[in-house]
Amino acid sequence: MRALLSRRPGGPETLELDEIPEPVAGSGQVRVAVRACGVNFPDLLIIQDLYQVKLPRPFAPGGEISGIVDALGTGVEGLRVGDRVLMSPVRGGMAQKVVGPAGNCWKIPDAMPFDQAAALLLTYGTSQHALTDRAQLMSGETLLVLGAAGGVGLAAVQLGKAIGARVVAAASTEAKLALAREHGADETVQYPAVALDKAAARALTDRFKSACGANGAQVIFDPVGGDYTESALRAIGWQGRYLVVGFTAGIPKLPLNLTLLKSCQIIGVFWGEFTARQPRQHAGNVAALMALYLEGRIKPAVTERFPLQRGMDAIARLAARDARGKVVVMIE
Ligand SMILES: NC(=O)c1ccc[n+]([C@@H]2O[C@H](COP(=O)([O-])OP(=O)(O)OC[C@H]3O[C@@H](n4cnc5c(N)ncnc54)[C@H](OP(=O)(O)O)[C@@H]3O)[C@@H](O)[C@H]2O)c1
Repeated sequence: MRALLSRRPGGPETLELDEIPEPVAGSGQVRVAVRACGVNFPDLLIIQDLYQVKLPRPFAPGGEISGIVDALGTGVEGLRVGDRVLMSPVRGGMAQKVVGPAGNCWKIPDAMPFDQAAALLLTYGTSQHALTDRAQLMSGETLLVLGAAGGVGLAAVQLGKAIGARVVAAASTEAKLALAREHGADETVQYPAVALDKAAARALTDRFKSACGANGAQVIFDPVGGDYTESALRAIGWQGRYLVVGFTAGIPKLPLNLTLLKSCQIIGVFWGEFTARQPRQHAGNVAALMALYLEGRIKPAVTERFPLQRGMDAIARLAARDARGKVVVMIE
């Protein structure tokens, strides 16, 4: 079968399309003939050896897929060959076939196309776990989302609206803000795409404060980090919750006195580990996401599709900060 392989650490240009043997489904595992693979920022990190998990080479990137069940290992219940499914988290998704634990494999409704199914669980699962399990976002609260047109960011915008929050979306370009508005954002803030000096950081805090209103943001969803984090934290409301989701702009350091002044919480989010440690709660979350999808209240914004042989270009879109919504690799 064909797979897009990382044979040495490096950027997307180091990936090579190659023929490798088909994987075999072991006990408790499912093999899926992949139709689509969602692209996520961790794909960019893992091929550079910058992710928290290191895989033995060669490996294919790709942490979420959709496709058709092709073989079952022993002891798998509730799935049959031929079922339409998504699988996430998974390893090696940019390939014609992939094997993963049955517990990470979910049947998808007939009405869900493969590209959307491959763009659903990793992003929406992360954002839902962050907003509901970790921050307990409530209807009527103000949610500030950074990187609001990215994968997890746009999912947080949609889920925030589904919960009934007032959503302030922040991103680096007007086109990204327009996408966030299309998906329900009530208010937008454009921030510079470059490092912030003191004056720019203060000005950004003022813009966040004025967009969030007199009581500040009750919840802040931050998949970006870097200089943006402190500016955003300064706009949090009394007893607010600050969600640490990712660091596409770098890992920030914060003056802790800011947490005392607002009596606020800084909350870590690690969805992959959550799915492994709390599988029952995770299964409940997946059911809730499927219901929201079928009700039309969430919908992955797949803006670009690439064939497998151009999977490196798909990952390069995220690396260049050019992606909007979700980029998906389609596999024959
Ligand atoms: N905690 C978890 O469990 C979990 C799960 C999934 C993903 N994540 C993390 O969440 C983050 C976002 O992942 P994603 O898949 O949603 O990525 P994505 O679609 O590429 O979105 C990331 C956003 O980060 C912003 N950004 C700021 N500086 C950037 C830079 N130098 N290069 C690229 N983007 C930059 C961009 O928005 P602007 O241009 O508008 O700033 C971009 O839209 C990553 O750090 C990822 O590892 C965490």
